[in-house]
Amino acid sequence: MKHFLTLADLDSGTLREILELAVQIKQTQRAGTSKAYLADKVLGMIFQKPSLRTRVSFDVAMLQLGGNALYLSPNEIQLGQRESTADVARVISRYVDVVMARVFGHHDVVELAQHASVPIINGLSDYTHPCQGMADFLTILEYKGGFDGKKLAYLGDGNNVATSLLFGAALLGMDYTIATPKHYALHPATWLLGQRLAAQTGAQLVATQDPIEAVTDADVIYTDTWTSMGQEEEAARRRLVFPAYQVNEDKLRRARKDAIVMHCLPAHRGEEITDAVADGPNSAIFDQAENRLHAQKAILVWTLDAA
Ligand code: CP
Ligand code: NVA
Repeated sequence: MKHFLTLADLDSGTLREILELAVQIKQTQRAGTSKAYLADKVLGMIFQKPSLRTRVSFDVAMLQLGGNALYLSPNEIQLGQRESTADVARVISRYVDVVMARVFGHHDVVELAQHASVPIINGLSDYTHPCQGMADFLTILEYKGGFDGKKLAYLGDGNNVATSLLFGAALLGMDYTIATPKHYALHPATWLLGQRLAAQTGAQLVATQDPIEAVTDADVIYTDTWTSMGQEEEAARRRLVFPAYQVNEDKLRRARKDAIVMHCLPAHRGEEITDAVADGPNSAIFDQAENRLHAQKAILVWTLDAA
């Protein structure tokens, strides 16, 4: 069973294979020659949290590939409350061909995968956001032509998005510098896993508290919200801690001239990113959002062995 729970489960070759498939699927869609890879297949989408990009891009991906998607809201499934996560996995497997789940605790997607008889795709957990990661590396590939010797700088919270970037960069041989405030770094076990993956590719991984060190000579500057879904009660405290990590014109000037700026969205403009940068000439943010669609088509086709 090919589950898609974290990029760290993949090897470099598989990650590159899915990226190449995404490139090919995007090209054929643009040319009007795309194949109905998933004719008559049904995707079940379990959401414990809100979503624009994940919900709509998975739905449209299934439609464009000849299949269907079912949106299941937090109120419907009530994962682990109305019935056990294991029973949800066993039952939904009898109806659909593949499941995407957006959850609070990562253990929930792991448990779904343990008990499902169809592939489970992690559509964001508190640990990692691998579908976002695939779209991010597809975007970097398009803008930069490759990963080798390129520097990806992430500024802000050591969160789920920072984690998928760590694993992807490590597997693809891209240098990754993450600048976070004290107490908001990636978990040491996450960092260790990233280092283990990087040992195979030679990717240079740097963790610092200095945002200027991170953006200097960067090819890509990336940021995300300071307060992730589920942490809302910490928002006021976080707003005091993070301002030095804002992606703004001063930071952008220190990067390479052709650097791109990325954000997984939703953005909190004026907090982690300024309007001038988000809407400026270096911004790749909306191409990146579009790439969720193309990358997830490749993920779906890969999990279902439908290439
Ligand atoms: N980037 C992302 O996952 O967006 P949504 O929360 O809108 O799905
Ligand atoms: N880190 C953010 C990403 C949203 C797509 C969150 O988990 O809320």
